[in-house]
Amino acid sequence: MAESPKTFYLETFGCQMNVHDSEKVIGTLVSEGYRQVPTVEEAGLVLYNTCSIRDKAEQKVFHRLADYKKLQKQGKKFGVLGCVAQQEGAKVFERAPYVSLVCGSASYRNLPEMLIQIEAGERATGLDDRQTDKCFETEFTARTNPHRGYITIIEGCDKFCAYCVVPFTRGKERSRTSDSVLDEARQMADLGYSEIQLLGQNVNSYKDSAGKRSFAELLAAVGEVPGIRRVRFTTSHPRDFGRDIVQAIDAVPTLCDHVHLPVQSGSTRVLDAMQRLYTREQYLERISWMKAARREISITSDIIVGFPGETEAEFEETLSLLDDVQYDAIFGFKYSPRPNTPALKLEDAIPDEEKVRRLAVVNEKQRDLQRKANDRHLGKIVEVMVEGKNEARQQWIGRTSQNKVLNFTAGESTVPSVGSYVPVIITVCFPNSLLGEMVV
Ligand code: 5AD
Ligand code: SF4
Repeated sequence: MAESPKTFYLETFGCQMNVHDSEKVIGTLVSEGYRQVPTVEEAGLVLYNTCSIRDKAEQKVFHRLADYKKLQKQGKKFGVLGCVAQQEGAKVFERAPYVSLVCGSASYRNLPEMLIQIEAGERATGLDDRQTDKCFETEFTARTNPHRGYITIIEGCDKFCAYCVVPFTRGKERSRTSDSVLDEARQMADLGYSEIQLLGQNVNSYKDSAGKRSFAELLAAVGEVPGIRRVRFTTSHPRDFGRDIVQAIDAVPTLCDHVHLPVQSGSTRVLDAMQRLYTREQYLERISWMKAARREISITSDIIVGFPGETEAEFEETLSLLDDVQYDAIFGFKYSPRPNTPALKLEDAIPDEEKVRRLAVVNEKQRDLQRKANDRHLGKIVEVMVEGKNEARQQWIGRTSQNKVLNFTAGESTVPSVGSYVPVIITVCFPNSLLGEMVV
């Protein structure tokens, strides 16, 4: 059977921003008469929405493209979207000549015209819109989960941390108006969504472009939309993390008691070299605000080990920070040099074996801390949103407001529906997940 040229396959790499961008791309393509298919083989147009935050991420895309080189002979077209597209630009065509579309995230609104170009056998690029003041508004968003959905409130980043490619791939910061965010939240509630995740590279740097609400006020307002039971937000930057956010979490029960506040390093010297704009002490002060909240707020973080010049003693400061904060979870990364970033000028002198060792030490230390601390949840009854079922284990999969996975069993006659909220008593605590029984 001949393949319809109006079919597409889309694979997404990277962060939640990319996952949500893909929902917007899918919505746009569908509105242009394309149909999404689940395999490369069935597709006329193969798209990769790429990530370039660390180097393995971009290598993955080029390997994937190389794998499918021969398919191009069958008349399939290929497109590279997202951060690698923005970073490499027309160089993608040199590395993978069979690609016909290269488009960064700020240009997705121009996709309909670009699709016409590539259908006519031309090459199309969308790379120039990063410095625009326009946000990619979500006229056509094909959300994949019917219960929990993302809303981008701010795009881009003006912080220029020394290691980070994001300001170059996603351009300058632009915020939507809080009214348009609230309209979208209300529409989602009308469609039956009960959980909303507000997204931004630095979500709490949000500045209402109409000047009406602060970030904390917007959080509270989304949390008060009838029908919305959970509001999450990610990722927060410590410099812009105000006490008002903690006060909002305390005041509005629908705001989830979880904050992802990446520290990157426990050493003020390294933080300064990273251009993070805060000291260890300032970071710990923000943590103390959360610890003083009436609700127990779960705190998670990102850590980079082996930043250029990080000494053993400075690395140990990161380890002692883990003790001080008692995170609920961390994501650790080995420093990797990125194009255009200021840290490229610093010598990346720490050998990879040493970065591997430091990463293993950080992860092991955190695992120990989580093993000890997680027991505090034993016997508590918490509400979970049901996400699905693990048939092999005969367990339901739930997520707590604190963003912890809580797998649970339910009586034989009870079938909790996906997307519903049920109370679960916690009976076993593992370092990375919890186990419990549904309370009836
Ligand atoms: N090398 C290693 N980790 C990085 N991150 C961002 N850029 C780099 C880099 N060049 C990590 C940071 C950030 C997370 C999304 O990825 O910890 O918070
Ligand atoms: Fe990766 Fe950053 Fe782009 Fe997200 S914004 S896809 S993390 S490079």
